[in-house]
Formats: sequence, C-alpha cells, structure tokens
Amino acid sequence: MTDIKNIKKKYLIIHGPNLNLLGIREPKIYGTTSLADINIKLNEFADNNSIELEIIQSNSEGAIIDALHNGMNKVIGVVINPGAYTHYSLAIFDAVAACGLPVIEVHLSNIYSREEFRRHSVIAPACIGQITGLGWYGYILGLEALIRS
Ligand code: DQA
Repeated sequence: MTDIKNIKKKYLIIHGPNLNLLGIREPKIYGTTSLADINIKLNEFADNNSIELEIIQSNSEGAIIDALHNGMNKVIGVVINPGAYTHYSLAIFDAVAACGLPVIEVHLSNIYSREEFRRHSVIAPACIGQITGLGWYGYILGLEALIRS
C-alpha cells in the first residue's frame, strides 16, 4: 500500500530561451554559473526539502506552453524564467493564467535596471510573484515561497 506521507510534492522549473548558455553568455550580467550547476543546486534543495522537481529548458515558446499544460495534473507549483519571452509573449501569459497553478517568475538579472524593453513583464500579472536580480538563488527563493505558500 502507498504510504501517503511518502508521496513527494512536485514542482516544475522552466528555464526559457538562451538560458542553456548560462556560464558562457554575458557573464557580467548573468554570472558564471552554468545551467547544469544551477540544476544541481535546485536538486540538492529539493532533496533537503523532500520535494520532487521536473526541470526543463527550452528555446521555443510552444514547448514552454506545453510544459505548463503538462504540469497541470502533475505539479503543484511552477518557477519560470521566461527569458526574453517575458517581455512580449502573451501566449505564455495565457498559459500561466490557464494552468491554474501558482507560478513565480524569476530573473537572474535585475530587469528593472536594464534596457527599457526589459523593464516590463507581460507574464508577471498572471504570476503570484516575481524575483529579479538575485542570480541563481532567485530560483531557490521561488521554490521556497511555493513550498511555504
Ligand atoms: C532574463 C532577463 C531577460 O530580459 C533576458 O532576455 C534573458 C534572461 C534574466 O534571467 O535575467 O534571457 O530572463
């Protein structure tokens, strides 16, 4: 018989476009930590907090939307860094709103201290919160907020 206490709560992490290049990509802005290393830190956090993670990275808008749809019956919360889609993807905004899950938007850099076009998120209004400018640790804070909410 399945012991209900041993069923781990599952969360989805979505890394959007160009984040596969972390560590190499504009290190002065995004830091030197690779995506693989961020995912190791996230999995360590998950183990220490007895939660399960599904982590995906995609450069395509449709795959990000599919991941949100697929998460609907599988996970209880989402941390998403939509990359540049943040600033114009109404389709991802709709998917975040439609999935009915608590979603936290994360950015490694402080989008409000950068170019004008980055200072607006079309996705944030569908999220329960946004963490920006705290580097990879923003993902951990996002998960922590979901666990405690
Ligand atoms: C980013 C900020 C976006 O403006 C940019 O397009 C990215 C990364 C961040 O994590 O700081 O790709 O989402």
